[in-house]
Amino acid sequence: MAVLPALFGLLLATVVTGQNVDISPKEAVRRAGDDLVVLCKVPYPIDSCRMTVGGKSYRLIPSNQDEEVVYSGQGLQYGECGAHIKHIREEWNGNISCMLPPKSGSIEVTGAMRLLVARAPGNPQLVSSPQSTFKEGDDFMAQCIVPDGRPAAKITWYLDEVQLLAGVHQPIITSEPGSDLQTISQNVSRSLTADDNGKKLVCRAEHEALDGPKEAARQLVVHYPPKRLEAGPITIFGLKLGAEGRLNVSLRANPPPAAEWTLGDVVLAPPAADASRSAVALEPLHLGGGYYNITLVLTRVAKEDVDRTYYLRVTNDLGQEEFALRLSTMDEPAGVELDTGAIVGIVIAVLLLLIAIFLVVFAKATDRWCFAGRSHRTDIPDGADSEAPLPPHDDVKGSENPSHDHGDYISNGDTKHPEKKPDTAV
Ligand SMILES: *[C@@H]1O[C@H](CO)[C@@H](O)[C@H](O)[C@H]1NC(C)=O
Ligand SMILES: *[C@@H]1O[C@H](CO)[C@@H](O)[C@H](O)[C@H]1NC(C)=O
Ligand SMILES: *[C@@H]1O[C@H](CO)[C@@H](O)[C@H](O)[C@H]1NC(C)=O
Ligand SMILES: *[C@@H]1O[C@H](CO)[C@@H](O)[C@H](O)[C@H]1NC(C)=O
Repeated sequence: MAVLPALFGLLLATVVTGQNVDISPKEAVRRAGDDLVVLCKVPYPIDSCRMTVGGKSYRLIPSNQDEEVVYSGQGLQYGECGAHIKHIREEWNGNISCMLPPKSGSIEVTGAMRLLVARAPGNPQLVSSPQSTFKEGDDFMAQCIVPDGRPAAKITWYLDEVQLLAGVHQPIITSEPGSDLQTISQNVSRSLTADDNGKKLVCRAEHEALDGPKEAARQLVVHYPPKRLEAGPITIFGLKLGAEGRLNVSLRANPPPAAEWTLGDVVLAPPAADASRSAVALEPLHLGGGYYNITLVLTRVAKEDVDRTYYLRVTNDLGQEEFALRLSTMDEPAGVELDTGAIVGIVIAVLLLLIAIFLVVFAKATDRWCFAGRSHRTDIPDGADSEAPLPPHDDVKGSENPSHDHGDYISNGDTKHPEKKPDTAV
């Protein structure tokens, strides 16, 4: 039982005598000019404490607090040998070690930690395809390089203000032989969408030695052919005969689209009006984000306008889209908007109607039957119900005596029973 603690003690002893001192922190990143406290500890009292910082060995005496590197800790009697480094210098980047007297023997025990004196990296560089515009669906790749930082800088990507996480590759950190400065590079790849147009791709570099992040950015220009927002033919509702009518078509395109309306044999390319100025084609109206409204104004909607089909062709460098428009003087049907809700409602209404008809038919049937035996009317529910089906029958049989009627009733009741069930249940 006592073997384990004993072993542990032995191990600890060998560790300590094996020149290992408890040192903290094991690693630190500081800017030049910052301060740092490094503490070495041994589990026995010591009578001296030395610390090597930047190649110079300092003999630390608790009572002397005036130097650049001074003693820190609770006291030598507690086995504590710490250094308070007041102003870290750039050239002190590297190992800091402490040397303490051994518990026994004559070889000093030592501990070492790593101090990284942060050095600001160079400006981030964004490397990407030199082409100025892209097409929707293109695979876009960019590389961001932040050179010569200590430690390496941290890279994050943004699309406008939104952080980009998808398509971000693993960063790669390299350094020149013999240099402790590190260069980080990271790639990002993305299949471009219409929504990416006009957005700014930003590589942001952050580093301990920088007061704020540094950025490199490029604007994305994504082109795409005109795209309809809704499938199928378009019907413009709510037009009034004799009043002005506006035929709007919303679509998306980049670069800006050109429009062309066809009304029978008349072709109008906005801004244009037909000979009688009864139809005026307006210039495409940019709503932002590549969305456009293209409008044809009918100054007075006539009966024949409602009967014909209007065609709109929209083109840009990348392609074209055609629309067919019908006009209607009716308001937009509500059912079109209500989709599922309306369907469910209609189904329920139809069901209710069917049930109502069913009930009426039954009421008539029972009435007809009741005319035949009016005196038993009150018995019908009892007789038909499961509450007490038999005794009332017997009672009825016993008390009254409409032999003919009753025989009728029973035979009737027997045959009607299964049909009557839903009636009473509803
Ligand atoms: C610093 O210490 C580590 C071990 O802690 C050692 O591997 C490294 O060589 C040392 N570096 C210098 C510059 O002394
Ligand atoms: C990053 O992109 C550069 C050039 O765009 C390429 O040379 C490099 O291999 C890419 N690295 C990775 C890890 O994809
Ligand atoms: C059509 O667009 C015009 C502007 O071009 C707008 O004033 C009007 O409200 C729109 N009409 C319909 C029915 O969407
Ligand atoms: C654009 O057209 C749509 C109908 O296609 C309409 O609802 C909207 O009000 C129009 N917007 C403008 C600014 O004209």
